[in-house]
Amino acid sequence: MKDRLIKIKEQASAALQNITSKQELESFRIEFLGKKGCLTEALRSMGGLSAEERPAIGKLVNDVRSFIEAEIETLSDRLDKEELLKKLEQEKIDITMPGKKRPLGKRHPLTTVLDELTDIFIGMGFTIAEGPEIELDYYNFEALNIPKGHPARDTQDTFYINDSVLLRTQTSPVQIRVMENNKPPIKIIAPGRVYRSDAVDATHSPLFHQIEGLVVDKGITMGDLKGTLDAFCKKLYGESIKTRFRPHHFPFTEPSCELDISCPACNGSGCRVCKDEGWIEILGAGMVHPKVLEICGIDSSVYSGFAFGIGLERTVMRRFGIDDLRLFYENDLRFLRQF
Ligand code: PHE
Repeated sequence: MKDRLIKIKEQASAALQNITSKQELESFRIEFLGKKGCLTEALRSMGGLSAEERPAIGKLVNDVRSFIEAEIETLSDRLDKEELLKKLEQEKIDITMPGKKRPLGKRHPLTTVLDELTDIFIGMGFTIAEGPEIELDYYNFEALNIPKGHPARDTQDTFYINDSVLLRTQTSPVQIRVMENNKPPIKIIAPGRVYRSDAVDATHSPLFHQIEGLVVDKGITMGDLKGTLDAFCKKLYGESIKTRFRPHHFPFTEPSCELDISCPACNGSGCRVCKDEGWIEILGAGMVHPKVLEICGIDSSVYSGFAFGIGLERTVMRRFGIDDLRLFYENDLRFLRQF
């Protein structure tokens, strides 16, 4: 028995020399200390020993066990350390390697120019208002003096959710919403998406953007409208730009006008950009119709106002010399990267 235990110890020592992984170490542990391990077996056979032999052999068994346990622990620690070192070595970061380049995004040309427009108006004391794109017929048409059957509805056909809910065709309904909820003085712009059921071509899209403007206070005149919009055009296109106000018609403004600027490409002498006109139309405007003020609960004998609507796409096209509006929505990076 004694010899057998000494042999087990020798075998264990020898086996330990060849262990190079935790897995192997675990098999070793099972082989020697496990339930069916050789030391356990040796213990079992102690039943056959005499009472005198037992204490000495018992001690020897414990010694061998402690020896093996201690060896396992030491080796386990060493293997852990080795593994860690190996991992650190493998995961070593070479800080001299070139970094990963992430392509930096940039703003869409529509956003860039919208931000510029917004800055100009904010500089003149306007604040920003918003309204829903899914709008009531009432706000988009009725309250703007465009009753059912009015011919102005034909040019602004849109997508209907039901008889009274539609996708707004213009940002003008924001005028109504702002006037319903605020007392004058009012001085807002309202940029946003608008929709019309137009077929797509180089100058039409069922979705586009407008910037609405509204000023209401005591004593507002056409002179304020002209001065404000003239100043705006000079800020956007340069001091040398000339403006021209032409009579026009909108149901919710009276009088109404369209604003042209002298063609920035040819300085008014006529070219391809202005189709030899020398002028380019850039927005619609007018004095807020007294009926519209009254609908919103504003006393038209005390207050007056002006409003305007700018098409964003066309402004950006003129600005960068883009001749096809579809390019804005195709998200072709070769196009977008140019701005
Ligand atoms: N909403 C008008 C359009 O879409 C433009 C406009 C706005 C005209 C405000 C006058 C005043 O054509």
